[in-house]
Amino acid sequence: MHLASKRILLIIGGGIAAYKSLFLIRRLREQGAQVRCILTKAGAEFVTPLSVSALSEQPVYQDLFSLTDEAEMGHIRLSREADLVVVAPATANLMARMASGLADDLATTCLLASSAPVLLAPAMNGYMWAHPATQENRQRLAERGVSFVGPEAGDLACGEVATGRMAEPEEILTAIASQLAGQSGPLACKRVLVTAGPTREALDPVRYVSNHSSGKQGFAIATALAALGAEVALIAGPVQLPTPDNLSRIDVESADDMLAACLSALPVDAAICAAAVADWKAQIAPNKMKKTGDGLPEISWQQNPDILATLSQHEQRPPLVVGFAAETEKVVEHAQAKRARKGCDWIVANDVSAERGVFGGDSNQVHVIDADGVEAWPQLDKRAVAERLADRIAHALGQS
Ligand code: C5P
Repeated sequence: MHLASKRILLIIGGGIAAYKSLFLIRRLREQGAQVRCILTKAGAEFVTPLSVSALSEQPVYQDLFSLTDEAEMGHIRLSREADLVVVAPATANLMARMASGLADDLATTCLLASSAPVLLAPAMNGYMWAHPATQENRQRLAERGVSFVGPEAGDLACGEVATGRMAEPEEILTAIASQLAGQSGPLACKRVLVTAGPTREALDPVRYVSNHSSGKQGFAIATALAALGAEVALIAGPVQLPTPDNLSRIDVESADDMLAACLSALPVDAAICAAAVADWKAQIAPNKMKKTGDGLPEISWQQNPDILATLSQHEQRPPLVVGFAAETEKVVEHAQAKRARKGCDWIVANDVSAERGVFGGDSNQVHVIDADGVEAWPQLDKRAVAERLADRIAHALGQS
């Protein structure tokens, strides 16, 4: 995270999710950001000015026509002295007023007067979010360059289960970091491609073979790279994961599709091949294969292209190519051989023997093998592995 001395203007709207904004303030302060808060009239029904002020270590701004607030800091200065304006929770009402350009309280006036980028974390009832009026407002705001984090699907305070939950503070924090890093992070102006998840190889129009890769590690790496300011193309096999903020996601099925998507993303400064690409593809039957008595189907297998090796040997070879190795024994030895065979720069090797539960799990213990030797990393959650790897990539590209 690169939030030290960043100035965040946080607008807290009126919704039950406002309590999560208190955690957000705390996390932002821990990261060294300066946080000034505007608490709307409705927001103050849910959290107190005292809590907001104590956590942000700043006065809280509430009124457009308050002599005290204006004497301390005029609303124009408040809106101008921010690197990023965050609205959390962003209610349907606030979004509608923003979309129409209203300036009828301190929050909307500052939003209209600010030239800083704006990030919204919407929170509302599922029907309100899905309503065409809200969706039109969302679209209009997005077209004006406003970014969004969430809302997510889940239990809502009104008792319904729907899309409308505000993103968790940790996710909002990541979105803030990537938004700010785009301006100044160590990977600003660098383009990176990341492959993630399994591939799916069709056997006939209804059947396929695939593997258990969840895509979590690749998605975490793409997120961490975007948070450092990189322009990321995330090329994903079929996975059940939401698209991280501030990157472009290209969904593919087969290894052939994944290779084509990678080649069209070139040139890039780094390619991180975290996908578990199927080694073989079948000669696809044009019609559904029929069960015929006890007979087994004839499937003719072919080698899939090796994406990592292709990129490593390509005439537009990225300056840094990173591969992964999932091994069940002699992890380092096999990974070293793989690095040489594929021609990539680094191999991130992990032990996927059944007892370690890496596939689909949340933690990972890896070795990073490069031309200089072997680095053994401790057991870390996949997000921490990703952040450490992203820092290592930023360092390597910074020297190139
Ligand atoms: O050969 P193996 O599958 O063990 O190598 C793993 C590494 O190679 C991973 O980085 C994976 O993304 C990449 N790979 C690839 N295309 C393939 C097979 C593996 O990019 N067809």
